[in-house]
Amino acid sequence: MDETLISTINKLQDALAPLGGGSQSPVDLPQITVVGSQSSGKSSVLENIVGRDFLPRGTGIVTRRPLVLQLINRRKAKVNPAPAKDDLLDLANGDSGQSEDNVEEWGEFLHLPGKKIFNFDEIRQEIVKETEKVTGKNAGISPVPINLRIYSPHVLTLTLVDLPGLTKVPVGDQPVDIEKQIKDMILKYISKPNAIILSVNAANTDLANSDGLKLAREVDPEGTRTIGVLTKVDLMDQGTDVIDILAGRVIPLRYGYIPVINRGQKDIEVKKTIRSALEDEKKFFENHPSYSSKAHYCGTPYLAKKLNSILLHHIRQTLPDIKNKIEITLKKYQAELMSLGPETLDSPNSIVLSMITDFSKEYTGILDGEAKELSSQEL
Ligand code: GDP
Ligand code: NA
Ligand code: MG
Repeated sequence: MDETLISTINKLQDALAPLGGGSQSPVDLPQITVVGSQSSGKSSVLENIVGRDFLPRGTGIVTRRPLVLQLINRRKAKVNPAPAKDDLLDLANGDSGQSEDNVEEWGEFLHLPGKKIFNFDEIRQEIVKETEKVTGKNAGISPVPINLRIYSPHVLTLTLVDLPGLTKVPVGDQPVDIEKQIKDMILKYISKPNAIILSVNAANTDLANSDGLKLAREVDPEGTRTIGVLTKVDLMDQGTDVIDILAGRVIPLRYGYIPVINRGQKDIEVKKTIRSALEDEKKFFENHPSYSSKAHYCGTPYLAKKLNSILLHHIRQTLPDIKNKIEITLKKYQAELMSLGPETLDSPNSIVLSMITDFSKEYTGILDGEAKELSSQEL
């Protein structure tokens, strides 16, 4: 049922795209937004969730402009298409989701309209180039986002936002009020009610000092859309672990914390693949005395699964609203069509209308059922 719901939402977005798509789509899907200190591993976590290598990562301030990353599920153009897969579920099932570059997956930047980039290394280089174009090479920052769309049959249609990390002391070309500027930038994104906040904290730093958690609390005091991610568990001092945090004994979060291990700087240099990183991550948790009994609740695949269920929860909550908006759109187009007369029956408008009509017939039922069944259900 869950997968039906996600693919329904994906189809709905496709069908409504001709009506304005993008921001005007009535389906207001969640944006997954990262918040945390500089170099806590935010870009690494996002990249692992997508399952493709394409984000600039590294020590120091690497992410210097917001990157608004729209993943767009695009089913294969086959006569008998296989059901759309998505990376979150692939990851949850232990598949790295990584595939070779091919013509089925590509990126498109808003600032390079019409240019399809099939090579994901090239996508990363363009992010770096576009960052430097606006901010210079010397650690400058800018709130002007880079907009990138990834089209793929292996992703769930949703938006991820990668942000610069919280930092206190200006370096290079950074303004004296760097701390405030980055805070404001982050607040702008995580304040949105449809933002799911990934609060990323390195396990080898003190959680009580986490500015990211503090910011998340400001905009989401009930913790209904914040999820904790503990990175760098592999870098903790021997004999220490994150068990107290996981057990909610340090700073409890409603959705809890998930420990993960991303690729380290050396792994980046030797171009370790996401697939082998995920294998190593799994082994680490399974073989570590502190985590072996709960290895199931550790690691990137579990994070993906958990995110997926938060996404579904959010979609369900917005179903009644989505249905309303579809009905309004339908009425509007029907009225428009009537006023044009019968000779316009094959016009693009009427094709769109019949698509929406089919849709609402086929899916209002599903949406109704889902809404009824799940309205009171908690995660
Ligand atoms: P961001 O600044 O928060 O986006 O962090 P990045 O994703 O750019 O990562 C910063 C640095 O930390 C990079 O050198 C990563 O390789 C490294 N890193 C991130 N997560 C981990 C982790 O879980 N383990 C290890 N060993 N290194 C990590
Ligand atoms: Na960094
Ligand atoms: Mg980053």
